[in-house]
Order: sequence, then C-alpha cells, then structure tokens
Amino acid sequence: MRAYDVIYKKRNGQKLSKEEISFMVEGYNKHEIADYQMSAFLMSVYFQNLDDQETFYLTDAMANSGEILDLSFLDGPTADKHSTGGVGDGTSLLIAPILASCDIYVPMMSGRALGHTGGTLDKLESIPGFNVNLDIKEFISVLKKNKFAMIGQTKEVAPVDKRMYALRDVTATVESIPLICSSIMSKKIAEGAKNILLDVKTGNAAFIQEYERSKSLAEKMVSVGKQFGRNMTAVITDMDEPLGIAVGNSLEVVQTIEALKGKADNDFVQLSIDLAAFTIQQVGLVKTFEQAQKMAKEKVVSGQALNKFIKMIELQKGNPKVVDDYSVFGKAQNVSYVKAKEDGYLKFSNTRNIGLASCMLGAGRLKVEDKIDPVSGIIIYKKTGDFVYKDDILFELHHNKTDINDVIEILNSSYVISDEKTKKNKKIKYIVN
Ligand code: URA
Repeated sequence: MRAYDVIYKKRNGQKLSKEEISFMVEGYNKHEIADYQMSAFLMSVYFQNLDDQETFYLTDAMANSGEILDLSFLDGPTADKHSTGGVGDGTSLLIAPILASCDIYVPMMSGRALGHTGGTLDKLESIPGFNVNLDIKEFISVLKKNKFAMIGQTKEVAPVDKRMYALRDVTATVESIPLICSSIMSKKIAEGAKNILLDVKTGNAAFIQEYERSKSLAEKMVSVGKQFGRNMTAVITDMDEPLGIAVGNSLEVVQTIEALKGKADNDFVQLSIDLAAFTIQQVGLVKTFEQAQKMAKEKVVSGQALNKFIKMIELQKGNPKVVDDYSVFGKAQNVSYVKAKEDGYLKFSNTRNIGLASCMLGAGRLKVEDKIDPVSGIIIYKKTGDFVYKDDILFELHHNKTDINDVIEILNSSYVISDEKTKKNKKIKYIVN
C-alpha cells in the first residue's frame, strides 16, 4: 500500500477501508509517512468527509497509537466527561467530586487553556502545589483512594493525536467534524472509562459556533463511542455567554469551592448538577433524570462532594487550606472595573472576546509556550437578559499587567445594551444518547 493511493482515493471522494486508514495512522506514528502526506490526507478528509464507519476506523487507529487503559479491575462504574471548550466552563471541577461521592470512579485526563478557552489543568494548577503530572501508577492509586483523580493526558494516551493536531493547526484543517471527533474520542477511548459524557458547546464562543454542526459533531462522537461499546451521552449546551460568573484560573476554582459549600447558585452550578445527573442516570444509580438531579444536589448539600474535593487536593499535593482561605491562592495586584455606558437590556454578542480579554490579562495562552498568571481573570456581574443602569459594573478585572486599555476595548465589544428585552439563554439545547 502507498500513502499516495490512499490520499488519491479520499481526494476523489471514495470510501476508505480499515486497512487503508490504519496504514496512514500507523505509518505516520512510526514516522514512515511524511508530514506533507499526512497534511494532504487531512485536507482530503476536510473536503470529502468520513462516514461514521470510517471515523470509527480512524479513531481506533489513533487510540491504538498508544496504550488503552484497562480499568475493569475497579469495583464500580467508571465515568469520564469532556467539554469541547468554552469561556468560564469549569464544570469538570464540580462534576467530578459529585460523581465520586456517588461511588462512581472518575479517571479524568484534561487539557490546558488554548486561545480564548480555559483549561482544567491550568485551573487546578492555580492551587499552590497541585500536581497534574501523575504517572499512570500514581493516577490509579489516587483513583482507588478517592474515586477521582484529575491529571493531564499522559504520553501513552493516543500520542499520534498530538502530532496530527499540530499539523491540522497549521494547515487549516482543524474545523472538520470527523477529525475533531476522532481526535477527542481517540483520547477518551484510550483513557478507559466505560461511561462517557460529552458537553458539546455551541454559540459565539464555542469551537464550532453553528448549532447544526455542533449537533453533527455530537451525533458522530456518540456513534463512534457506541461502536467501542461505551455508554455515551452528548449534551449540546449554550456558549453564547460565559458560564457562571468567573473567567480565569483561581477565580474559577473559588467559584467551584463556593458551589461545593452550597453558597453559589448560578447557571454554572445548575449546568454542572445537570451534567452530573446525566452520568448518574447513565450508570443506572437511579431511574429518572429528576432523581439523578436530586442525588447530585444532595451530595453538595451534605458536604460529601466538598470532602472529596479536599481529599483530591491533598492526594495530588496541593494546599487544601485554599478551601477555607482564598488568600492562599494569592491575589492580583490590581482590580479594575468596566461599567455600563447606558441603561438597557444586556446581551453578550461576542463572548469569545471575554475569553480573549481574560487571556490578555494573563489567564490563558495565545501560544502553547505562554506562561499563565493563575490569579488574573474577570468576574462577571451581569448576564444576558439582565437590565443594567448606566455606570453599573459589568466586569471586575483582576490583573498584574498594568496597561489594560486593549483589554477594556475588547471587553466593550463583547456585549450590546439595547431597549429590546433579550431572552435568558437556555443552557441545554439538545441531548444525544
Ligand atoms: N479538541 C481536541 O482534543 N481535538 C480537536 O480536534 C478539537 C478539540
């Protein structure tokens, strides 16, 4: 077989066999296929698409480029959750301890912030001392002791994805549904959980903004996961406005701790409860979604989820004092405010810009090698549909950087204020399972 023939076939819109797809992925993984041929292959997929079976073959080949974790020795259900990324989207931090206190094992491997979206690992690392770089043995040991552990993807997990993603990034082939699906699902399959919940974001700050395309991605990922024998649920959720009230690493962890103490109730908390409930129902602990929501809420009210969270911090060498004393996170040197310029109803029209503003303050990275400032970020005072008066605070900025005129400018282009009463966004738009 030759790479040329596989590229030629896909370029002409023909269906590829399992052998042809494995040949490309294995060959690339072993450095036998060159970057330029893989790039051409990716571009042919971008234009000609892959059907569900071909996407399964691609995912399978990518998952098998490394090790596939076998978690069947654990004495309970295993569940994992993945979000396609958003602004203020720290739900994993709240969902994982809730599920762990329901006796569900949560072996979670997460990613870092990139572009306008945040990353779970950077949020966790804002806790002084916290170690996200456990090896598999340490990861399993924490998992066994506390039912959940949160780390970065180890080098054994679908290693070819990293190289393929890097090529996609520079060849304008990121936004392809089968390529996104196989990239995400190869890692989720390799991480070994039997139950997988996908939070597919849609809207102006989502990776894929159009609802119909978000739905196609969700359906494809569910189809592929099922072909691997995994229990799958995908939920399409709104990303037209930031989730919750915090954007930035330590600020989002504080928001999570407040929620775990039962002191916060906003769209971030409600969505996290609902997402946890999907998994609780999926693993069969209860029959109805309402019962699952009740169980998730009880784990918060009883303090069990908070105890799990504290134990996870201890087991992963973070300072658990952050839970009672937020000053342990440290503080940004400056706090500034952005205020409304007129009266009217607020609507976030470009939430992506809030993510970018937070990034410009130091909370995210525009290039992979950028360093994160863990304490910088934005607190959001008003949400879409709220009536605001002139001079009401819209954003509270935490920053060490001194010149923030560019940040204020970009934040002012993230919303509109008008006489028209804007509707509050419904968070969950569609469920695929
Ligand atoms: N996240 C991934 O892991 N891969 C993609 O291709 C897109 C988002």
